[in-house]
Amino acid sequence: MNGGLDVVLSNSRGPQTLADLVEELGPRARAATPAEAGSAAGDWVIVTVPFKAFDSVPREPLAGKTVKNTSNYSPRRDGRVEALENGSTTSSERLQQYLGESAYVVKAFNNIHHAHLAVLHRPAGAEVRGLLAKA
Ligand SMILES: NC(=O)c1ccc[n+]([C@@H]2O[C@H](COP(=O)([O-])OP(=O)(O)OC[C@H]3O[C@@H](n4cnc5c(N)ncnc54)[C@H](OP(=O)(O)O)[C@@H]3O)[C@@H](O)[C@H]2O)c1
Repeated sequence: MNGGLDVVLSNSRGPQTLADLVEELGPRARAATPAEAGSAAGDWVIVTVPFKAFDSVPREPLAGKTVKNTSNYSPRRDGRVEALENGSTTSSERLQQYLGESAYVVKAFNNIHHAHLAVLHRPAGAEVRGLLAKA
């Protein structure tokens, strides 16, 4: 399910490990390294890695792009980060600082389980539709 969009996927282990998923998604999907995926991305890039992996996101390819950050900080997974615990910053602010001002970071899709993205979509005009807030 890629919603009729061209998508370029990446992970930490290399494009070859995404072959099954690419096949499942069909001809409009392909896999690449994170740097290649960032460069190939058109209008927007989705960064959907654990907070602790932000500093391995390639910076240069994301310059000038809208970057959607799905991350939810989890101290058990990411290690305790005092500035996030005390509310003086957010994961999106951290990603924005890391990427620099030329990228435009927005929070998105962090409040929906990934499996629901594929099954809860409704066409425009449907009586019941979900709403995903972004900030
Ligand atoms: N799962 C959900 O439904 C959901 C919902 C809302 C928000 N979130 C948030 O979204 C983020 C990702 O969640 P997830 O459940 O997808 O986590 P996950 O299952 O741990 O998957 C993380 C993905 O990021 C990749 N990755 C990790 N480090 C990377 C790096 N340095 N460079 C490139 N790719 C890297 C991993 O690739 P490898 O497998 O190759 O290491 C994996 O594909 C988290 O912050 C989570 O809190 C998740």
